Amino acid sequence: MAGRIPQNFIDDLLTRIDIIDVIDGYVPLRKAGRNHQALCPFHDEKTPSFTVSQEKQFYHCFGCGANGTAITFLMDYKGMDFVEAIEELASRAGLEVPREGGAFHKDNGSAELYELMELVVRYYCRQLREHPEARRTIDYLKGRGISGELAAEFELGFSPPGWDNLLRNLGNSDAAQERLARTGMVLKKDTGGYYDRFRDRIIFPIRDQRGRAIGFGGRVLDDSTPKYLNSPETPIFHKGRELYGLYQARRKLKDLVRLYIVEGYMDVLALAQYGIHNTVATLGTAVTPEHLDRLFKVCPQLIFCFDGDAAGQKAAWRALEIALPLLRDGRQCYFRFMPEEDDPDSFVRKHGSKRFEDASDFVPLSDHLLNTLKQDIDIKTREGCALLVEKVIPYLARLPAGALYELLLKDIASQSRLSVEDLKRLLLGRQQTSQKPLRNVHRTIPKQGDSTLIGKAIRLLLQHPFLAQLDKARNEIADIDVPGVEFLQELLAFINSNPDTTCAGILEHWRNSNIERRLNELAAMENLLMERHEIEADFLDVIAKVRKNYQKKQRQARAQAVNNLEELRKLYTAGPATDQKE
Ligand code: UTP
Ligand code: MN
Repeated sequence: MAGRIPQNFIDDLLTRIDIIDVIDGYVPLRKAGRNHQALCPFHDEKTPSFTVSQEKQFYHCFGCGANGTAITFLMDYKGMDFVEAIEELASRAGLEVPREGGAFHKDNGSAELYELMELVVRYYCRQLREHPEARRTIDYLKGRGISGELAAEFELGFSPPGWDNLLRNLGNSDAAQERLARTGMVLKKDTGGYYDRFRDRIIFPIRDQRGRAIGFGGRVLDDSTPKYLNSPETPIFHKGRELYGLYQARRKLKDLVRLYIVEGYMDVLALAQYGIHNTVATLGTAVTPEHLDRLFKVCPQLIFCFDGDAAGQKAAWRALEIALPLLRDGRQCYFRFMPEEDDPDSFVRKHGSKRFEDASDFVPLSDHLLNTLKQDIDIKTREGCALLVEKVIPYLARLPAGALYELLLKDIASQSRLSVEDLKRLLLGRQQTSQKPLRNVHRTIPKQGDSTLIGKAIRLLLQHPFLAQLDKARNEIADIDVPGVEFLQELLAFINSNPDTTCAGILEHWRNSNIERRLNELAAMENLLMERHEIEADFLDVIAKVRKNYQKKQRQARAQAVNNLEELRKLYTAGPATDQKE
């Protein structure tokens, strides 16, 4: 089993490949000025805003904000994981990927868990075909309108009655049993030994986006409870990230124009049975930001299908709150509410797929937002308008800038009889007083004050790594220690020991660190066309200012120290305290 890939291999690999070739293989690029362009593969658009810079080895979409290196592209566009992306690029460059530590590795052992899960899928599928008691399951599925083909496509299975079927078949050593336990497929008994988690249930294998089996759902065949059992969280299964049916949907459909998000396994199957293959289900949990992030990467339009009852309304509101910050241009969310008595499964059987997919029944997220907030408000009165504005501002504040934001602003302004400017002013005031940062604060590259200088220095280095060779700059900051400068020093050292590195090389070097995101933001900023000597002068100027600020702070600190000392002296020379009583 493989160990870690050495960082210096990744640093080197990035100097040997060209992002233009990598992306062009999937998304044909056209040269436009200094950059290459294409219609963005991460969102729907009519004019190209997806830009690839050969110099930076970095892509950036001005429409949806997607950006990254060749590695990021393979991960986000092809659904590869980090290691696979490295392997893909290495094989293009004709390189073998070295591993640290040989046989003793830091691998968390997930590879063997995936292999084992594959065996479990096959075992349960075989039971559905061969087990003497599987007839009931097949009849049940038939009774619910699931065809043999669909059952095969989703690899439905049967876990026979009994406590140790899986255990006996796949757990024939202590190590094998321990592995099964790590996948959550068997549980430890108080008295020692293990027993099967899934007994006498229809089995729904859950695959991740790339097709690896990671967990299972299991439904009873009667009214006993719990109706569904699911795999627990394991090293390879995270309910907050995974979606049932995503793998099958992507395999079936090249182009995902829209995706329905439903609540149940059976809803996914029923819709697929009716030819609606673009459906995913959460795994018995509420929708999370990770879910939506993942889905928006493969599809720009998400339709939430919730029940029409109170629980469904509540779930919809939660989904709305989670989706708002993710609604950059090009991304859309709708709600497709079911009548009170139906779930998507029963609905599509009663009314057919046409009716289910009738877009006139889709409620745009922004409509749902306003309609819900307007309930119980008399918008004909001034008080009502003020109340509406009051209520809507926190939601508006979470929406990213873009067309939807502007349109919503206009609508709310006109409905509440304010000008857009007034509304914006109210919004701004509110943001400044009450908005808490939503993301982790990056400590190493602070955003405010003095540190914007450091931000600028870092941006210039990202865009023009050759600047790291300027001895003058290196010397000027060598002995400074203020927040952010440590990173600047580290960055200079990195570039100097990797003189061929590019913007992408730097980003990859700090992938998964707490400054990854901030570095990406800086990298995505436009290069201004400048002569080399202008760039150098600009950089030296920034560095000089950093140094000056530092020196000024040092002086202030010294003065403060002197003051403190004098205070102290005064206290002592004032003689012994006289106000103390014996
Ligand atoms: P539903 O009860 O709506 O499931 O729960 P369903 O798919 O429509 O099942 P049928 O039609 O009755 O056969 C929605 C989802 O909530 C989770 C499952 O993921 C289920 O698909 N759930 C439900 C559980 O995890 N445990 C339960 O006991 C019930
Ligand atoms: Mn159902």
